Amino acid sequence: MFSTAFLDLPPLAGAAGTVRLPGSKSISNRVLLLAALASGTTTIHDLLDSDDTRVMLDALRALGCGVVRDAADTTDATDAAGGSTLRVTGLGGQLKPGGALLALFLGNAGTAMRPLTAALSLLGGEFELSGVPRMHERPIGDLVDALTQLGCRIDYLGNPGYPPLRIHPVPHGELMLDTPIRVRGDVSSQFLTALLLALPLAAAGDIVIEVVGELISKPYIEITLNLLARFGIQVRRDGWERFTIPAGSSYSSPGDIHVEADASSASYFIALGAIATGVLGKNGIRIEGVGADSIQGDIRFIDAARQMGALVDSGPNWLEIRRGAWPLKAIDLDANHIPDAAMTLAVMALYADGPTTLRNIASWRVKETDRIDAMANELRKLGAAVEAGPDFIRVHPLAQAGWRPASIRTYDDHRVAMCFSLAAFNPAGVPVRMLDPHCVAKTFPDYFETLFSVAEAAEVPVICIDGPTASGKGTLAAEVARLLGYHYLDSGSLYRVTGLAMRRAGLTAETQHEAQIAAMAAALPLQFTEGKVLLAGEDVSEDIRTEAAGMDASRVSTLPAVRAALLALQQRFRELPGLVADGRDMGTVIFPDATLKVFLTASAAQRAERRHKQLISKGISTTLDSLRSDLEARDARDSSRSVAPLKPAQDARHLDNSQLSIEQSIDQVLDWWQEIQPFKPA
Ligand code: DC
Repeated sequence: MFSTAFLDLPPLAGAAGTVRLPGSKSISNRVLLLAALASGTTTIHDLLDSDDTRVMLDALRALGCGVVRDAADTTDATDAAGGSTLRVTGLGGQLKPGGALLALFLGNAGTAMRPLTAALSLLGGEFELSGVPRMHERPIGDLVDALTQLGCRIDYLGNPGYPPLRIHPVPHGELMLDTPIRVRGDVSSQFLTALLLALPLAAAGDIVIEVVGELISKPYIEITLNLLARFGIQVRRDGWERFTIPAGSSYSSPGDIHVEADASSASYFIALGAIATGVLGKNGIRIEGVGADSIQGDIRFIDAARQMGALVDSGPNWLEIRRGAWPLKAIDLDANHIPDAAMTLAVMALYADGPTTLRNIASWRVKETDRIDAMANELRKLGAAVEAGPDFIRVHPLAQAGWRPASIRTYDDHRVAMCFSLAAFNPAGVPVRMLDPHCVAKTFPDYFETLFSVAEAAEVPVICIDGPTASGKGTLAAEVARLLGYHYLDSGSLYRVTGLAMRRAGLTAETQHEAQIAAMAAALPLQFTEGKVLLAGEDVSEDIRTEAAGMDASRVSTLPAVRAALLALQQRFRELPGLVADGRDMGTVIFPDATLKVFLTASAAQRAERRHKQLISKGISTTLDSLRSDLEARDARDSSRSVAPLKPAQDARHLDNSQLSIEQSIDQVLDWWQEIQPFKPA
């Protein structure tokens, strides 16, 4: 996940390959609640692991449900492919007695707040439900009205009609369940879903729910009914106005249940298949985990994508998408049935042959943010003409010359971030900056990594930080990489690992072994994970940092064949979204076309002092004078050696950090970086 302040997407040229998507948020949170209300244990496969499911799980644990994550279960093919398994032992419809007031924090998860409000009002017990400030602006009054109508006791702790809420217990005998319960269906379908999921708790007799107003987002109600049926509750439906929970309904666990991949998350990759050309002779995007027969309403996004020109094939649990019509075809669509996925259409509209209109989307205004305003604002920043009203948005396509590099505000809304990433495929070749990219954690923590696994950039940005030994380039480069969300290449470690491999093979850095060492270097089974360096799976991070390993590295680094062998390996680190590389020849030999080159120096006296402090803190005794003369000798050798001598690239910016703190050096490099980016402040 990217937890950086912003993430720059370089212009993307094409995309092809297979993605496996995380589980559906809507299914995951419904299944979790049903499993919690049922008796017995439910094993849930491929559950979504994200912010919204985490708050639901925390709430269920607090209520006394057993929750066990089953990492070891990889016998099932689906799980082995990356999903996780969770076992939830339910309450059997009843709270453990003797509970004091329980305060539950539900973040910004509507799929937790609404159903839990209904379920907890019927379970008996004192509860306080709250969330982030935006959650306290998202309406819940219609649901609370419906529940109070039947005798539940719920107080508003802040503004009437909005969370936070206080829920008091009411004996089921006092509830008025023999008259139909009326609930509004035209603000959020989650109110009806909440009642449908919770009312079986009190179904001594038939319970009838009547919908007032035109029911929106009907497909989400279908998911609710489908999952209730899997838990043994057969709701009778008369049109979309009247629902009956039969007398004697009770939740029974299906034992095992699989969560489909999220169809709304799939929309970004369906759009990607429709927009992107192939790469390296490969064509199309394959999505694993969800097919056209999905129970999720947002799967109907494929119809809209087809209308716009996408070629979509599907089988059991998979989709394949290729570019068809280009430019895409403009559409005029009532998008009420796919409110979440329709945001993706608004960005696809930029690549269409005329204005695209999405209608009947008033619910966008009460989601994670006011999505109509958010989409209109950010699309305009890209250069697009947009018209918007209370319940519609019209987006005009962008000609090549019309695209602007933009810093996209994401409004703490995962879907804004995900759909705007598609703007990086613009024909003008302008980059797109995504502010607060971590908001995707709500439903798809690895969204950008997944995008980068199939997308190709014409040019992946590289920042090179070269300089002499002990100049602090390693610390600086690693920190700049972290702040930009870029990959980091510590090229010295490659020479160190090669030196180690050489020693272990009983070789020395002599000309007669050069070819053999170079062959080893070219095929190093090397991995960098979580700050560790692994050689053939063995953690060698400590072994390569010794003085002896430094000497071996310095010796192998003078062999031209070894340098040549490591060239391709180093260049392979240049991956999306970008790379910061440090070493002596990054800007001169390995990445001569780097976007920014920094040559970092400090006076020999300063460097000796820093190294001295470092060694003393490790308990190694040494003198300042000997360190300084060592450094000066090494500088002389490094700059005069015949292969890749240490020298600044001609176009490098010089940074003497003798008088600078590490923070000041970082700020300077980031300032230089921002200077050459085309983005205006957000
Ligand atoms: O940066 P370091 O101390 O980990 O580097 C170890 C040795 O590898 C050093 O003696 C020089 C050599 N090296 C090199 O020649 N070229 C690089 N790009 C990086 C390191």
